Amino acid sequence: MRKRVYSAMRPTGKLHLGHLVGALSNWKEFQEKYDCVFGVADWHALMGEYENSKTLKENTVEMVIDWLACGLDPEKAIFSVQSQVPEHLELQMMFSCLTPLGWLERNPTYKEQLREITTRDLQTYGFLGYPVLQAADILLYKANAVPIGEDQLPHLELTREIGRRFNHIFKTEFFADCDAILTQTPRLLGLDGRKMSKSYQNAINLSDSPDEIKTKVKGMFTDPKRLRLKDVGHPYECNVHSYFSIFAPEKKDQVREWCVNAQKGCTECKMILAEALVEYLRPITERREKFAKDRSKVWDILEEGRKKASVIARQTMSEVKQIVF
Ligand code: TRP
Ligand code: SF4
Repeated sequence: MRKRVYSAMRPTGKLHLGHLVGALSNWKEFQEKYDCVFGVADWHALMGEYENSKTLKENTVEMVIDWLACGLDPEKAIFSVQSQVPEHLELQMMFSCLTPLGWLERNPTYKEQLREITTRDLQTYGFLGYPVLQAADILLYKANAVPIGEDQLPHLELTREIGRRFNHIFKTEFFADCDAILTQTPRLLGLDGRKMSKSYQNAINLSDSPDEIKTKVKGMFTDPKRLRLKDVGHPYECNVHSYFSIFAPEKKDQVREWCVNAQKGCTECKMILAEALVEYLRPITERREKFAKDRSKVWDILEEGRKKASVIARQTMSEVKQIVF
């Protein structure tokens, strides 16, 4: 039996380069080797965006267009929208009954988000249960492996604990432990050197045009110690250099030579990077345009995914109910 892999993203809008190197390039590889289910976690998004709920539909299509553009293939993996498969919520309810409040209140991600996100009121019953729904997502498909970022590790640990608690209470071995698969690529920083994030407005989107990419790259922060062309640079302290490592590794050594010997200036260096990025993204951009013109096709793909996901979800829930009731 092939391993089952589950992962999901919240539909918060267009995806950026951080999503590509952090998640999508992994997902693309996994769809060849494993039975993959890729989820659109729209209930999770709603927990934060309940006052802007009408954005979720558009964000779902845009995100799935990005998935398709990056080479995720609905013939190889199941694309499933969480809110279209009601069993996610049934299993969440089941888990809610046996998850101790303390586990949720102690969750470091939860505490951090309550502290840091001030633009929305997250003091809700639903948001406290965020990881319970995430556990339901994963265990509904009996996933063995979950590709996630490091920030999601506490949630995966809770998933395992909830699965074990279910097994313990109902004297069963129904849910197996699932493993995290962490991304190998080093984390990509945003244009200003902070974490790349839509809310910091420091991201290059997969849907950006070549001109937008050039403008954004021109504004990138570089080695702060290099003010003039004749100053030698410190490429290892420069975010532009780390972009070369990821997106144009064949040019990286040459750039480093120029930089440490003060042979080329940062503006020129960034223009070279911008061109390399445009080339790197070209196949993605082309596929993106094709799917963006045919949105009904995207909904058809999601409808096919819903059917396939539902078969697995119904089976699991019927087994769970037999164990519990
Ligand atoms: N919480 C994840 C995030 O914000 C999204 C998510 C929801 C998820 N359900 C999941 C990730 C299940 C992995 C498995 O990125
Ligand atoms: Fe960074 Fe390039 Fe400037 Fe060196 S030349 S500091 S690598 S932008």
